[in-house]
Amino acid sequence: MATSDADDVLDALAAAALEVRAGFAGRREKTDGQNASGDQQLHADLHADDVLQNFLGGLDAVGEYASEEAETVQDVGDGPLSVSVDPLDGSSNLTANNPTGTIVGVYDAPLPAPGTDLVAAAYVLYGPLTTMVVARDGDVTRYAVTEAGRENPECVDLPSDPTVYGFGGRTPEWPESFADYADDVEDDLKLRYGGAMVADVNQVLTYGGVFAYPGLRERPEGKLRAQFEAAPMAYIVECAGGASTDGSHSVLEIEPGDLHARTPVFLGNDELIQQAERALA
Ligand code: F6P
Ligand code: MN
Repeated sequence: MATSDADDVLDALAAAALEVRAGFAGRREKTDGQNASGDQQLHADLHADDVLQNFLGGLDAVGEYASEEAETVQDVGDGPLSVSVDPLDGSSNLTANNPTGTIVGVYDAPLPAPGTDLVAAAYVLYGPLTTMVVARDGDVTRYAVTEAGRENPECVDLPSDPTVYGFGGRTPEWPESFADYADDVEDDLKLRYGGAMVADVNQVLTYGGVFAYPGLRERPEGKLRAQFEAAPMAYIVECAGGASTDGSHSVLEIEPGDLHARTPVFLGNDELIQQAERALA
């Protein structure tokens, strides 16, 4: 793999993001379809997937394109890299005009693959501004995405003094061990939860704290997908100086036997992740 290969993917993601965002208007309605995980798809989910497959899958550097919206990995050429894509994370937020995102993992291995095979990861946040956060070579950088590409780079370091938390799942569905942990966290931190992983993790990266989507009573595997959501976001948080766990190990160590496998996810400041591991042990 040439070092520029992953940069080609990241540049293409910035270009694709503008088209994804431009496609929201008029695509906020549900289709009749569901994705491989059983989520109801919006027209915007399908449009985002088409755009990203064209931009990323079309690169010489990319050999495999895997999308949360598609059942199987697509063979798109002979390139050395594989990309995992959650084309429109939190897309149900479009209904209320709240933030959504795109999550991309760049691997130098065939998919499915664990986060230890990531060579870069990035998310785009479609908020009041379109921003892109990239983890590469152990550093995390936030960019403004404009017609000119990735602009105004800023280094992202997880603040050492945590401020916010956001936990998914309905509280009656939380196992007691997690409910106890949440009680403790609530004593010190301020709730910030919007229902799009990208936006909620972005708040943790900005202010410090913890994001979690735990295993639930009736669904111990939780909701978030290891390949498409958990591993790339854990890679970004760990590169920014934070930690991740699925309850006992770094999320990067999860081997997603199935492309669409789910996992509990905890991301944030190291002490809060260690506290979660102790609470869930
Ligand atoms: O992609 C799944 C997702 O939309 C994530 O972005 C988000 O973290 C989670 O689901 C929200 O789920 P819930 O509505 O159960 O809080
Ligand atoms: Mn998602």
